[in-house]
Amino acid sequence: MDSTVSRRMFFKVSGATAAGVAIASPGAAQAAQVEAGRTTLPYPRKPVAMASGLKVNEPVSFTYPDDASPCTMLKMGHKVQGGVGPEGDIVAYSILCTHMGCPVSYDVQAKSFKCGCHYSQFDPEMGGQMICGQATENLPQVSLAVASDGAITATGVQGLIYGRQSNVL
Ligand code: FES
Repeated sequence: MDSTVSRRMFFKVSGATAAGVAIASPGAAQAAQVEAGRTTLPYPRKPVAMASGLKVNEPVSFTYPDDASPCTMLKMGHKVQGGVGPEGDIVAYSILCTHMGCPVSYDVQAKSFKCGCHYSQFDPEMGGQMICGQATENLPQVSLAVASDGAITATGVQGLIYGRQSNVL
């Protein structure tokens, strides 16, 4: 009998073994959750602005959930999807384009985020929905909480920030 193992057989057996280990491992399920952007780590609560300091259609920059993640807050002037505050018009988004991570900029005339790299556009009034371009995902929306004194706190992110396996590193 031939005692050598063919290259094909070796990969067949080792592949099946690896798959079996991954299924059996409890850590594999957790890793899959993190990869989907549904991090199991807690988001920080970060004060980011005062509602009284916001002006309609004037973007305000901040970072969240850490200093490497630039975001923009907007007061749209009327109730919008995911908006908070007394008028339901305050929203915030990661400004890293979901296509390849270029920073998007807010166009005050068009009231949309535009990416200068490959021209994707996103709608801040519709939850960061992709309007057109190369991107296939919406801009991640920052969850906000507004206190009775008007202090705005970032509390989480809906969607995966570009370049990350988990929003909270
Ligand atoms: S990086 Fe924004 S469209 Fe390509």
